[in-house]
Order: sequence, then structure tokens, then C-alpha cells
Amino acid sequence: MDLNRPALPLHNKAANKTALAATALAAALLLSACGGGVAPQGAEQAAAADPSSGANASGNVNICGVKDASGIYKGTAEAFTKANGKVTAKYTEIGATTDEARTQIVQRLEGKSTECDLFVTDVIWTSEFASQGWLLDQTKLVEANKDRLIPSTVETTKYQDKYWGSPFFTNAGLIYYQKDKVAKPETWQQLYTEAAKAPGNGFVYQGKQYEGLTVNFLEMLYSAGGEVLDDQGNVKIDSDETREVLNFMTEGLKNGSADRAVLTYNEDPARLAYESGNFGYQRNWPHVYRLLNATPLASSFAVAPLPAWEGGKASGVLGGWNLAISAHSTNQAGAVAFIDFATTPDWQKHVAMDFSQAPVNEAAYSDPGVLQKMPFATELLASVKAAKPRPISPVYPQISQAIYKNVYAVLSGTASTEDAVKKMAEEITTAKASF
Ligand code: GLC
Repeated sequence: MDLNRPALPLHNKAANKTALAATALAAALLLSACGGGVAPQGAEQAAAADPSSGANASGNVNICGVKDASGIYKGTAEAFTKANGKVTAKYTEIGATTDEARTQIVQRLEGKSTECDLFVTDVIWTSEFASQGWLLDQTKLVEANKDRLIPSTVETTKYQDKYWGSPFFTNAGLIYYQKDKVAKPETWQQLYTEAAKAPGNGFVYQGKQYEGLTVNFLEMLYSAGGEVLDDQGNVKIDSDETREVLNFMTEGLKNGSADRAVLTYNEDPARLAYESGNFGYQRNWPHVYRLLNATPLASSFAVAPLPAWEGGKASGVLGGWNLAISAHSTNQAGAVAFIDFATTPDWQKHVAMDFSQAPVNEAAYSDPGVLQKMPFATELLASVKAAKPRPISPVYPQISQAIYKNVYAVLSGTASTEDAVKKMAEEITTAKASF
């Protein structure tokens, strides 16, 4: 899969100018034909999902998204089919990681494919997909649920004052640790020191060249007080904090805090490596809790929030997945019916109880049934609320690529910290200027 392909055709200025010219021409034609009105472009011209349409839906809804170890997508599709009686839902896995799923989805959307009615979209894709006019406007659906949702999850579906998806589940990184071998980590420095003390204490994380590495790196960078962009959108990655974190991670690979195999791990390989019992710490998402509980490590592991940077604070990166209706869906009403089901307060409890994922519905975290199955629900809610978003931009994939490629180059020993930081900043600046 070519993750290094250049920006999408509409993601550069020249193409945007062509598109604008075409829109202007279309608008002029429309004006002369109808005597008024201007045809807007991209997100603005998208059709809106009708919140009442779900009640009369029928047929099948095809939901497409990433491969998922937690079982939440297939499980929700099955529960919906059973509960609804008139509409069926099927989940189609298209891509092993978020990057691969995005490439697959973008190909379908660019080709106006009708294969998928609903996409499970990573929170980082909203601006890109909405700016291309690929999704139905879900403002009315989201407005109806908004009061019960964690505000940051609603923000992830927003682009230009409209909502383009319904929050399904949210995400925040956690540390799983073997409480008989290693201490609960209070700082990253303490975690790395403990991890290097004995061969069985090591730390596993997601260090492969992909989105997950951006997340793992930013979790440390944010807690060290660094940032990618400031509030005005200026590039701030060329900083002492970036250098400090890169050097810290590199040193950790050299001194045995982290096994070098992490450079090949995305979420599932990291989980499986940890299940061998040969490690002390693992950074992963909440869904790992339920899976780890079904292994021989069930009684020896504990869960902790991400640690603080020494002398700094604890922070995190907001993850999560939304339900977005394809502008080319041939069963929009069915897609609305599925969203109605997946976002009910009742199903949001199942999100936690059955799949160990983080609900977007705030009340779920204090439900007794949830607390029983997910004893760390209170801490998880605190982590979700403390997590910071990744940069919000229609060219986010290019920004992230500039981060993970250069972080990976340092970790794998093919670039110096200094060169990588400079390149990262340059590439992010170029990506931003391309839209
Ligand atoms: C999780 C998060 C998602 C993130 C991805 C990175 O699936 O929910 O937001 O982009 O991990 O691998």
C-alpha cells in the first residue's frame, strides 16, 4: 500500500483553483438557468441526513472500516440487525490499520463507489472528508444527541460549523503493567527506568511507521509541553521538547527499556507480544483490557493512565471513531437507523461492557454495569477528558506522515534528531501550504 502517495488531487492549490473555476462556471450557468442562487462548493453543497428517515428504513446497510480486534463493529452490526427487524447491517473490514483503511475509503469515495453506506471514520479524517464533499451533513442528528455526549467527541465531527459524523466511541491511551514485576508508572522517565531493570520488564508500544507512531510520539510530546501547531496554526514542532522526546525514545531502544521489535508493531502485534508475559509495560487503548482479561495474565496486570513527563504533566492524544454516511450511499435511511441504534444510551453502555471501548455518552461511565465490567471507567473518562486532539486540518494525513516518517527515521537510526526535527517542520509547513 502506498502511504507515501502525494496529496489527493483536490489537496493542492492548483487543483483547488481549477475546482473553484469549475464551481464559478457552474454557478454562472445556474444563475442564468434559474435566475438566482450560487452553487456552493465541497462541504457546503453536501446533502443533509434526515433524522426521521431511520424509522421507515429497510434493506441492508454496508458499514466499512478498519480491522478491529475488539469486535465492536461486527458486534454492533449483529445486535442492530437483531433489534431492528427491517434493516440488516453488515460490517466489511477494509484495511489493517487506520492508514490502510483511509486509503481504501478514499479510493472508494473518489470513485463515487456505492459499496459502503456508512464509514467508521477515525477522528482525524473529518476535515479532509468533509472538505471534499464526501459525507452527508449530520448536523441535525448530532444536535439531537449533543447534550449527553462528551464535548470533545462532538468536536471531532465538526468542520466549518457543521457535523459530519456521529461519535461512536472515543479513545485514550493507557498503560497496562504487570503489577508483580513493575511499579505503577507516575512519569515516563520512571517507566523507562523500571523497564530497563530486568529483561522481563520491558515496554512495548506502537513504533511502526504509521499513524499509531504519531500518537505514541505526541502523547510524550504533549506531556513534555511541546506541540505541533499553536492556536493560530503556526508550526511549532522545531522545539527543545521535540528533541528531548526523540532522544529519550531513542535512548530507550538502546538501553533495553523498549524492545527494538516495537519498530514493527501496530496495536495488535504490541498486544500479542505483551500477552507472551515477557514484558512489564504496554501502551495501548482500552479495548485491550477485555482481551488481556481472557489470557493467563488476567490476574497479574493492572491499568494506569498515561504517566506525566518528569517535571511536567500527564497528557494524552484523543482517539476515537465516528459514524459517517457516504454521500454515495444508496441506503441513507438505513444508515440513519444504524446510527440511531449505535448512539442510544443503552448501546453506549454495551460499548464499554461488551467491547471494553470508551463510550461517547458521558453517563455510561458511572453506570454500575459498566463499572463492574470496566473497573477503570472513572480513570478512563478522566483520560478522555484530558486528551488533546491531533492537529485539525484537511491535510492532516500529510502532517502526520511528516511526523511518523521522521520520528521513525530517528528511532531506527537512519537520521539524526537534528536533521529529523528540521525535516519534520519543513514537511509540515509544506503540507499546510498545499491546501
Ligand atoms: C486508535 C484511535 C485512532 C488512532 C489510531 C492510531 O484506533 O482510536 O484515533 O488514529 O488508534 O493507530
